[in-house]
Amino acid sequence: MQTVTTLAALRPATEALRAKGGLALVPTMGALHEGHLTLVREARKAAEHVAVSIFVNPRQFGANEDLDSYPRQLARDSALLEAEDVALLWAPSPEEVYPEGYATNVSVAGVSDGLCGADRPGHFDGVATVVCKLFNQVRPDMAFFGEKDWQQLAVIRRMARDLDLTLPNVEAIHGVPIVREADGLAMSSRNAYLSADQRVAAAALPREMRDAIARFVAGDTAGTVLSELTSALVTAGFDSVDYAELRDGGDLAPAVDPGPGTRLFVAARIGGTRLIDNMPVG
Ligand code: PAJ
Repeated sequence: MQTVTTLAALRPATEALRAKGGLALVPTMGALHEGHLTLVREARKAAEHVAVSIFVNPRQFGANEDLDSYPRQLARDSALLEAEDVALLWAPSPEEVYPEGYATNVSVAGVSDGLCGADRPGHFDGVATVVCKLFNQVRPDMAFFGEKDWQQLAVIRRMARDLDLTLPNVEAIHGVPIVREADGLAMSSRNAYLSADQRVAAAALPREMRDAIARFVAGDTAGTVLSELTSALVTAGFDSVDYAELRDGGDLAPAVDPGPGTRLFVAARIGGTRLIDNMPVG
């Protein structure tokens, strides 16, 4: 595996790989876990070469969020990627990505509104901007993202469609199902912030979501189920619930009642940690 930290070194490295077959990109912020490694394995199945980016993107963190404390463990991550037969690790510095005078923002309306976009103003602009740049830097034939961040995936697909991106084009942006711990909690780099007690309580998130889905399917009123889901999470030890909503999985339009393609989206806070999850209804 070749590790590259400058744009000057990146272009010859990616061109050499692309000359020998397809190239897939897996963008990450590091602190890798089995969720990330599953994306890498899916990418490896689909393409001759896999590039992984590790970049903790300052533009997608709010002023009061965890940019400074976000786990950074490049040596460990690098060893994990080496073992997955990754060809290229792209690990630029913030100055390399956003040099002096940087002034451009990519903003995707509609799908960025609501859910995490409402709780984290500017977050999806930061995501769209950095992913657009990563695509242009690496120029992959395809890219892999997790369905854990369903709204993020919708934003990136909308951007690729709207900006007529070609490397990758929108059809070559692949979503990978959520990888979960044994008790159902979606894997996340932020799970490392949880104390032992909080970690036990956190499993209530997927459990209560599954219960709520069983009730939707049984025909219970959506509004009642969602408000009882919120109370159940607080009873289980969450401090607050940012949202618990039904939305169409495609365009993320609010859904009053569950129907085909509807998903349940929840974000909830435990201690200082914000956890998100989403599941299909029915
Ligand atoms: P990060 O949180 O590091 O996640 C990198 C990729 O791994 C994302 O596509 C995310 O959806 C996926 N992922 C994380 N946990 C997962 C899980 N439990 N199951 C399946 N996939 C999972 O998402 C980001 O970084 C950033 O916003 C990024 C896209 C890199 C832009 O900075």
